Amino acid sequence: MFNVTLSFMFVFCDNTLLSVQFVTSVVSCCPAELKQETNGKKVTLKGFNVKLQDTILFPEGGGQPDDHGLIGDVPVLRVTRQGPEAVHFVCTPLEVGQEVPVKVNWERRFDHMQQHSGQHLITALAETMFGYKTTSWELGRQRSTIELDTPSMKACQLQELEEAVNVKIRDCVPVNVQLLSIDDPAVEKVSRGLPGDHAGPIRIIDIIGVDANMCCGTHVSNLSHLQVIKLLGTEKGKKNKTNLIFLAGNRVLKYAEKSYSTERSLVSLLKTGPDEHVEAVDKLQKSVKTLQKTNLSLIRDMAVLIAQNFKNNPLKSNFFSLHKKEGDNEFMNIIANELNTEETLVFLTVGEEKGPGLFLLAGPTEPVSKMGPRVLQLLQGKGAGKNGRFQGKANSLAQRGDVEAFLRQEFNNFTTEEE
Ligand SMILES: *[C@@H]1O[C@H](CO)[C@@H](O)[C@H](O)[C@H]1NC(C)=O
Ligand SMILES: *[C@@H]1O[C@H](CO)[C@@H](O)[C@H](O)[C@H]1NC(C)=O
Ligand SMILES: *[C@@H]1O[C@H](CO)[C@@H](O)[C@H](O)[C@H]1NC(C)=O
Ligand SMILES: *[C@@H]1O[C@H](CO)[C@@H](O)[C@H](O)[C@H]1NC(C)=O
Ligand SMILES: [Zn+2]
Repeated sequence: MFNVTLSFMFVFCDNTLLSVQFVTSVVSCCPAELKQETNGKKVTLKGFNVKLQDTILFPEGGGQPDDHGLIGDVPVLRVTRQGPEAVHFVCTPLEVGQEVPVKVNWERRFDHMQQHSGQHLITALAETMFGYKTTSWELGRQRSTIELDTPSMKACQLQELEEAVNVKIRDCVPVNVQLLSIDDPAVEKVSRGLPGDHAGPIRIIDIIGVDANMCCGTHVSNLSHLQVIKLLGTEKGKKNKTNLIFLAGNRVLKYAEKSYSTERSLVSLLKTGPDEHVEAVDKLQKSVKTLQKTNLSLIRDMAVLIAQNFKNNPLKSNFFSLHKKEGDNEFMNIIANELNTEETLVFLTVGEEKGPGLFLLAGPTEPVSKMGPRVLQLLQGKGAGKNGRFQGKANSLAQRGDVEAFLRQEFNNFTTEEE
């Protein structure tokens, strides 16, 4: 099995120790850095690595994240393992030799205990019931995943497994921690994967009558403390593996609370009961698709009508300019194609009034290629053209009016020259 690895000189106690005020002394305090990622941003914190005579804060290991807590009133941001010792990262230096109380962030710790013990239980029953071995697991921020060595798992197996783990929880099966000396013959059965820098006795987590496994993590002392386990489902894992997603304990309650709140919001948005939500969203999506199709076809028809309306105007000038917020390149091309751009200069834009958009300039080849660059400049755009078409993207349509004025003046210039 995924052997979780270490044991410590000090014993991590599970839930009993926490009510006790733990006092120890500072052994060393050295400047250090901590790389952290908050909201996807990487930051490097400057601070100190502190070693204590002993600690109740669990360093990351065995798939379980580290504890957070306080040394005195200094927050501990990270705990890591160096050989048999735990290293605490803090931002304020601590005096060596000083006596300090250490407190664990109990909510975080208990959550980790529930997920980790839950994993041991699920892992053990998945193997005894179906022969699916666990190859790794991850305790995530929201949900945890057990990687099972099977290409798939049936829905009925998932149901049976969920039922079985919850029966064990209802049975209040005790969980014992045993410390075995490294030369104990009993260690043989459970000691695969011990790390090279292991020191001290081997720690066995024994769910009585269910599973005994070497593990350094923190666990509940009785399965009743898990409250409940929900197997959310499975996902395809790596080659021939299946990821089983689960929640244990308080996370089940939090998940239910969040789901209910989402459900309430959807009820008021969709105006249907929860049982019809999927159907309602499906309907909405289909109708949006239809509307988008209709929208496009109406925009095309409108382009044709706009062009015809201009052509049929006996008083039309030789310059046609139009802005339409909802439009696209095709809308502009249809208009330009409908109009006789040998004699008419056409300037079209689509997009936000003063924001970004698209433009098209069409007309007799020579003036268009001469005026194009200035149009680009005024629209802060990017584009190119040939054969009487010049088109592209505008970063800002704010100076659209100036473009019109420029075009009117310059194009008149051309036509009068010809005469
Ligand atoms: C396990 O916990 C339950 C509920 O708290 C308790 O009744 C039971 O005695 C405990 N069993 C052991 C062996 O500690
Ligand atoms: C996955 O399992 C199938 C059937 O047992 C086997 O044929 C295949 O080689 C396996 N693939 C890998 C990558 O192990
Ligand atoms: C209609 O189509 C235009 C052009 O593609 C687009 O700009 C606009 O957002 C669409 N409107 C809707 C409601 O889909
Ligand atoms: C417009 O006419 C002026 C003077 O008649 C000339 O300098 C200018 O280059 C002309 N513009 C274009 C675009 O040819
Ligand atoms: Zn473990």
